[in-house]
Amino acid sequence: MTRDSLVDCSLYTANDADEMSRLLGDVFARRDPPAVAVGLTASAFAAFVRLFCPKADAEGLTIVARSAATGEMAGALLTEDSMAVPPDGLDRLDPKFDPIFDILGQLDAEYRAGRAMQPGESMHLFLLGVSESFAGQGVAQRLIAEALANGVRRGYRLAATEATNRTSQHVFRKQGFVERVRRSYGDHRFGGQAWFGSIAEEGGPILMDRRLLP
Ligand SMILES: CC(C)(COP(=O)(O)OP(=O)(O)OC[C@H]1O[C@@H](n2cnc3c(N)ncnc32)[C@H](O)[C@@H]1OP(=O)(O)O)[C@@H](O)C(=O)NCCC(=O)NCCS
Repeated sequence: MTRDSLVDCSLYTANDADEMSRLLGDVFARRDPPAVAVGLTASAFAAFVRLFCPKADAEGLTIVARSAATGEMAGALLTEDSMAVPPDGLDRLDPKFDPIFDILGQLDAEYRAGRAMQPGESMHLFLLGVSESFAGQGVAQRLIAEALANGVRRGYRLAATEATNRTSQHVFRKQGFVERVRRSYGDHRFGGQAWFGSIAEEGGPILMDRRLLP
């Protein structure tokens, strides 16, 4: 089986909610360095993903990849309009999210300063995850390419993401994204605590973007 025929990509629908929440919860709790550093569980992360599912269905920007052989979900890229209003319920999540919201919030605030954005212009590639059994076979790169192509069809002109680790940074660079803002895991403090000291070797999260051509 070639890389291209391994999975089929499609637009997220409400029927994908359970599987996508579980998959992203599992892969982030196990392998996303900041989530691992603060000790988030798979179910706490899945609860976070669930909050975004109604919006994913309504906006039509999220892509899922399923095994061509079995139909099992192999990966997902939760995507939203960059100007979308955050869903209700974020304040009821596990407080372990707070250091992550803080460091990623710093990236976003610096990036957005002085940039006027309208809904429908910029898409936010938010949560990219690929199941371990499909890792290293180009599924993440397929998901990004499909999300960008779908965004272009819908008139989006810019795509942005916060890439939290060296693998995702490599993958987004390969898809044409360039670095705009960076923070350091080693230097970051939240509530006086170095939450990300154990992952200092990952460097830090990088906000990257890419212009989209019609
Ligand atoms: C990041 C993630 C989505 C990648 O999925 P994937 O389907 O395995 O990725 P792909 O196969 O498309 O590409 C992986 C690329 O990263 C490279 N890579 C692997 N480990 C790497 C590392 N430590 N540093 C840099 N690049 C690395 C691979 O060589 C490959 O690049 P290549 O095509 O040039 O050879 C997956 O590892 C994942 O779900 N991680 C946990 C959640 C997460 O961190 N999400 C991103 C948050 S922004």
